[in-house]
Amino acid sequence: MPDKIAIVGAGLVGSAWAIVFARAGHRVALYDDTEGQCEAALARIETNLAALEGHGLIDDPAAARARIFIAAGLADALDGAAYAQESVFERADVKRAVYEQIDGIAGPALVIGSSSSGIPASTFTEGLGIGPRCLIAHPINPPYVIPLVEIVPAPWTEEEAVTRCWTLMEAAGMEPVRLTREIDGFIANRLQAALLWEAFRLLEGGYATAKDIDTTISAGLGRRWSFIGPFETIDLNAPGGLADFCARLGEGFYEFVKQGEPAQPWSDDVVAKAHEERRGRLPMAEHGDRQAWRDRRLMGLAAHLRDAGREAGD
Ligand SMILES: NC(=O)c1ccc[n+]([C@@H]2O[C@H](COP(=O)([O-])OP(=O)(O)OC[C@H]3O[C@@H](n4cnc5c(N)ncnc54)[C@H](O)[C@@H]3O)[C@@H](O)[C@H]2O)c1
Repeated sequence: MPDKIAIVGAGLVGSAWAIVFARAGHRVALYDDTEGQCEAALARIETNLAALEGHGLIDDPAAARARIFIAAGLADALDGAAYAQESVFERADVKRAVYEQIDGIAGPALVIGSSSSGIPASTFTEGLGIGPRCLIAHPINPPYVIPLVEIVPAPWTEEEAVTRCWTLMEAAGMEPVRLTREIDGFIANRLQAALLWEAFRLLEGGYATAKDIDTTISAGLGRRWSFIGPFETIDLNAPGGLADFCARLGEGFYEFVKQGEPAQPWSDDVVAKAHEERRGRLPMAEHGDRQAWRDRRLMGLAAHLRDAGREAGD
């Protein structure tokens, strides 16, 4: 029987992880220190399970729902759990306090993955008895339709904890990648930050609207990125492969990048400009509906990529 999983912090990301693990057959205990959060998580989970069923992305949503329950407290959530997915606020002090609490009650075999978006595990697990079994397991939201999980061990994380987390994630349908050592922001948010920096720079310079910069990704570069990454993209974009691409375009690309140095913080003006343009296209009152639309599109894409992958024998 699959192991019990504890979700520590049942907000947006914690509740999404609950679906990943319950769909894979695990019993999932929800814990949150704020009243009403676990109940709200269950309501979100039920809505999202129904949506997944509509896209053929789950076989038995009722059985998955039945495996998720609210724990009486942190100790109850961790009791008998093989793995905990921590998804509390993105603040080192809040995470540290939670890990100190876990340290006092965790069994000797518990492995703990943090959903941290960019704070390395060494920042909040140093000196704890459970430290060797802690690591980052960073998802892209929502993980029940986006399979990437970045696994980042701290310098003191045991290899066995990495292997157990990796195996668990793969069995739950996730696609893990591993960083060989810690770096702030890991891979995904460092790449995202580089792209956002350039997008704001183009907007601030008045070179294009936010809409046209967005369309450059959604109708252009992003089309490839949903199934191949930047290295494979350039490898396929020159007759002689990656080295040929670099020989043809490397110098020109270097010129663009040099023009952009050094990075500056986003100014209040450019943030206001981007926000105003977005609100002109999407009033805040319609924000939630548009998030739900995005998630439905992601489910459609996940179903397509699964079927296309099966046809290609991936
Ligand atoms: N939102 C995203 O798109 C996204 C994507 C990937 C990773 N993450 C990461 O996931 C983590 C959670 O983000 P979120 O967006 O779900 O935030 P959120 O605010 O929706 O949820 C955080 C939850 O943690 C709970 N919490 C706070 N302190 C706690 C404590 N001491 N004990 C138990 N519960 C506690 C809060 O009550 C809240 O329900 C963060 O580290 C974030 O960076 C977020």
